[in-house]
Amino acid sequence: MEALWEKTVLIGTAGCADAELDARLRPAVEHLKDAQPVAIPTETVYGLAANALDPSACARIFSVKRRPSDNPLIAHVSSLEMLRMLVRPAPSPPPLQIDALDELDVPEALKLVLRRLWPGPLTVLLPRAAGVSDVVTAGLGTVAVRFPSHPIAQRIIDLCGFPLAAPSANLSGRPSPTTAQHVLDDLVQRIGFVVDGGPCMLGLESTVLDATRPNAPPLILRPGSITARALSDYLPDVRVFRKTAQNAHTEDVRAMEERPSTPGMKYRHYAPISPLFLFHQPEDKGEGEGDVAEFIREQLAAGRSVARLTTKSGPVQFASEHYREFPLSGAGEHVEIARNLFATLRAADATQPDLIVAESVTEGGEDEGLAIMNRLQKAASVERGRNKQQ
Ligand code: TXA
Ligand code: MG
Repeated sequence: MEALWEKTVLIGTAGCADAELDARLRPAVEHLKDAQPVAIPTETVYGLAANALDPSACARIFSVKRRPSDNPLIAHVSSLEMLRMLVRPAPSPPPLQIDALDELDVPEALKLVLRRLWPGPLTVLLPRAAGVSDVVTAGLGTVAVRFPSHPIAQRIIDLCGFPLAAPSANLSGRPSPTTAQHVLDDLVQRIGFVVDGGPCMLGLESTVLDATRPNAPPLILRPGSITARALSDYLPDVRVFRKTAQNAHTEDVRAMEERPSTPGMKYRHYAPISPLFLFHQPEDKGEGEGDVAEFIREQLAAGRSVARLTTKSGPVQFASEHYREFPLSGAGEHVEIARNLFATLRAADATQPDLIVAESVTEGGEDEGLAIMNRLQKAASVERGRNKQQ
């Protein structure tokens, strides 16, 4: 790919005290002030950040990532006050104001959510302020905003003094990066700086919530670590946007799918280079039993190499030089699978197998299961045991 910079500088931050940290971050902050994109750590995944108030800076994000221009960006803030630069003012602010949210056009129930769950892995759509560029919102009337909890992300935004638009810092269509090395693998010489904050704590992108639809319940557009259960304390009628066999042909779902703003619906996502086969395991079958084992045996017999993502570590199931296992966790905990999913997908893909095989996790619980399955299904070329996107 075409080089845009002679080199990409990696800025280390491990063990830095505050004053030292600011000094290390300074070149990256200057670069951001010069309208250039910089990769930064967040608690979810690494982001490719640029000044959210400068359309030319944001346009560079799209060209560096090769991102389709009709896929809008998330603007990141480091305080509620900073939302004034992004969100439309309230038509009639309440007389007694608790914080900056009361000055803005934010639904009451959503204020409670944000006061409780921010900073953190939750992105919400809000009516955009007049100054927010169409480059950020892809021309939509709403802007997606997030207040990340990662201290280095917060410090960079503070030092800039403006919000940072940041999609995941991968080439468009590739798995999201959860380490600085992943960013370099995709974007070396395409950006000037990567700030290294170590591996991301959560590993999957933020939950995207739309609570702005008139006369319609709040809708989770992209599942993440903040679950419908967690949101339902404040938004009792919150729903998750999901395509099922029953609703697949309804106007509502078709219309949602056509919207580039529905995360991951229109575009191919997280695709490894080798095709990924996702097996839906009936819950009563033991690990590695049935269809998957049979399928792998057939592939190996046909001379194809297989990389298998297992949900937990255990004895390797097939003795073949063409077979490798990549455990997603030690004991099958969803929080750990979520943290490791993208990194493991990249590691498996790097061995250039003929195919990658993965198994479903349970998604009905109140944890990261749904978000894990959402990413696995988007990465999969073929699903077995159930229809794709069901
Ligand atoms: O955790 C995260 O959210 C990471 C880190 C870097 O913060 N960012 C991230 O950005 O995942 P990205 O661009 O990969 O995903 C943002 C998603 C897009 O798929 C887009 O469709 C949706 O948010 N989005 C942005 N603005 C929107 C809007 N106004 N309406 C509906 N969806 C929107
Ligand atoms: Mg992304």
